[in-house]
Formats: sequence, C-alpha cells, structure tokens
Amino acid sequence: MTATRGLEGVVATTSSISSIIDDTLTYVGYNIDDLTENASFEEVIYLLWHLELPTKEQLQQLKEELAENMELPQEVLASFKTYPLEKVHPMAVLRTAVSALGIFDEDAEVMDKEANYKKAIRLQAKMPAIVAAFARIRKGLEPIAPRKDLGFAANFMYMIKGEEPDEIEVEAMNKALILHADHELNASTFTARVCVATLSDIYSGITAAIGALKGPLHGGANEQVMKMLTEIGSADNVESYIKDKLEKKEKIMGFGHRVYRKGDPRAKHLKEMSKKLTEITGEPEWYNISVKVEEVFTSEKPLPPNVDFYSASVYHSLGFDHDLFTPIFAVSRTSGWLAHILEQYENNRLIRPRAEYTGPGMRSYIPLDERK
Ligand code: CMC
Repeated sequence: MTATRGLEGVVATTSSISSIIDDTLTYVGYNIDDLTENASFEEVIYLLWHLELPTKEQLQQLKEELAENMELPQEVLASFKTYPLEKVHPMAVLRTAVSALGIFDEDAEVMDKEANYKKAIRLQAKMPAIVAAFARIRKGLEPIAPRKDLGFAANFMYMIKGEEPDEIEVEAMNKALILHADHELNASTFTARVCVATLSDIYSGITAAIGALKGPLHGGANEQVMKMLTEIGSADNVESYIKDKLEKKEKIMGFGHRVYRKGDPRAKHLKEMSKKLTEITGEPEWYNISVKVEEVFTSEKPLPPNVDFYSASVYHSLGFDHDLFTPIFAVSRTSGWLAHILEQYENNRLIRPRAEYTGPGMRSYIPLDERK
C-alpha cells in the first residue's frame, strides 16, 4: 500500500453536482460564468439540490421556505452572549451554533428523504441569521429579524448591517454567493461526505464541514488575504513585501490550487467586482494593491489567484468585518455541502480508506517497571 499525499489526483466518489474539467467549473452542467451573470443564489441552491433549474413556481416556493425558516431558536441566540465576544472567531461561533441547532431540531435524527430535505432548508436559511446575529451581538447591538420581502443576498446584508443594501451591493453579494456555492470534492465537502457516510445526521455533517473550511489553506484564506493587503498598505510596498515573504518560504494567501492549473475561473469575476466596488467606495487602493500583488507574485511563481484572493477586497468593499469573510463563504458553501450530503445519503457507502503504516515493526510489550 502506497499513500498518495493529500489524496492528490484520487477520485474518491462519483457526483452529479459540480465538475472541474480543463479549468472550467460547472454546476450540474451549467458554466458558473453563465450562472454568475444570470441567476439568483436561490436558483443555484435549487439547482444543486434538485439537479435542475427551478420553474418560477418552484423558485417562489423555495424563496418562501427559506424566508420562513431564517429565525434562530432563542436558546441559540442567548448562548452567543455567553461567549468571550472580543476573542472568539465567528467561524468557531458558526460551528458551535450549527451543532446547537441540531439539538433544537426535533427532526435531527429522522433520516428519511423528506425530513432531510426539510432540515436542508432550515439549515440553509439559518446560516446567514447566525453570522449576522453574532456580528451584531459582539458589537453590543440587537440581532435584526429577517424580512420576508427580501431575497437571500439582500436579507443577509440587511441582517448584518441593519439597513437595506442598494442594488449594486445585492448584485455583488448574489454573485459572490453563487461563485462560492459548490466546488466538487474540496476539503470541506469531502469532510461532510465522510461524516454523513457513517449515517450520521445533517447537523453533524455541516458542523464538520465548517471546521474544515475554517483553515487558512481552505476558506480561511480570504481573511488572511485582507490581513496581507492591510499590512502592505500601499501598491509601492508590494514588491518588497512579496519578495521578503517568498525568501522566507512563506505562502502568499489567495494563490495556488490543487486542481486548477491555468487559473481559477471564479477569480476573474471577483477581480472585476473588486475593481468596480473599490471605485464606488472611493478606496481603489485595495484593488490596486491586489493587482500589484498578483503581478509580482505570479512573476515569481506561476500560480494564479484563486477564489479567495479578490473576494477579500470585494467583501471589504461591501462593508463586512474581515473575520466575517470566511463565515460568508460558509453561508454560500452550505448549499453545496447540503447537496453533497443529500447525494451521499442517496447512494451511501461508508468512506473508510487505508493508511500506509510508517511506524516501528512488530514489538513485544515491556512491563512498566522494566522500561528505561
Ligand atoms: N504561495 C507560495 N507558494 C505556494 C503557494 C502560495 N500560495 N501555493 C503553493 N505554493 C508552492 C508550495 O510552496 C510548493 O512549493 P515547493 O514544491 O517548492 O515546496 C508548491 O507550490 C506546491 O504547493 P502545495 O502546498 O504542495 O500545493 P497543494 O496542492 O497541496 O495546495 C493550496 C494547494 C491551495 C493549499 C496551496 O496552493 C496554498 O496553500 N495556497 C494558499 C492558501 C489559499 O489560498 N487557499 C485557498 C485555496 S482555494 C479556495 C478554497 O478552497 O478555499
């Protein structure tokens, strides 16, 4: 048995949800370029869960179901106030809150298809409410109830900021949510599938996935990118900053990918959005610094930017606290995680690979008082 480090190139499952072929990403056969330009996030959720785009009636029904399920149990909301608010990372709160939601869902352990679909709606709807409520509570503000007349993207922004976002903001948020919705067998999606393949419940699967997304090599990279842009401060400092990091053999967050070679097809959309939004907010330096980082880094290493690079300046321009960037990613990716969880249940087999053993050979037990 020979191990494949990081499971690179290993095909671990079949899936009908999303595919990456020749650096093109599709959701159920639709190019993400097409979906990003034309669809709403709710249409994409429907597509991922049902493998077809919705009719008008189906879309309306999904929107209503999401709007009706956004409110959080009081117990979960109250628990936020008991956390060390200044120190705790919102991803840790999200992970804990999703686990807690499982305690308050009477169908948590009901495993039939209908119950699982209902739980998928409940969880997808509550994810933005968790992020928004915590973002406000830690600032001493009261959480804001969702509005039934707003779509998913608008409601999410409204619940965080307390004011209705304008059309450009909603469009950007909608696009960002679509671009992050699914991504084949990425680390967090694999985690979710491994978890539920034991026939564990949906809440456990999403809790596990959030834990995997949190790391800086995965979803946590977008927050690290913003930290780097802030440290750099000006386009003039880019060259020395990047070269210094590379000399120290440090990674530059937001670049590189396990699967893409020519480039991440999501990055170009976010780059365009970053340019537009930073101009609107009067802070074009975030875009300018980012472009310069891309120029300098890729001239040293041929690794193109990934989804997390330009999403940092996009989310900053939309006014989000920097540690909310990864939770926002999670809100979107929940749609993909849930699609994969439902698919896993449909044709389940325990996921249990092997390890290539590299420890000592067979030994005999030495009694405690004879050990040196
Ligand atoms: N900066 C500098 N060097 C890099 C980078 C980077 N961002 N990414 C890869 N490399 C180098 C790495 O040092 C290694 O060099 P060498 O062969 O000389 O040791 C080589 O490229 C291969 O890297 P690797 O880490 O073995 O590649 P991987 O396929 O295991 O990792 C990755 C993929 C995305 C984890 C990695 O490129 C990385 O750490 N990037 C920075 C973190 C990041 O942006 N993560 C977001 C990923 S995309 C969205 C998501 O999933 O959330």
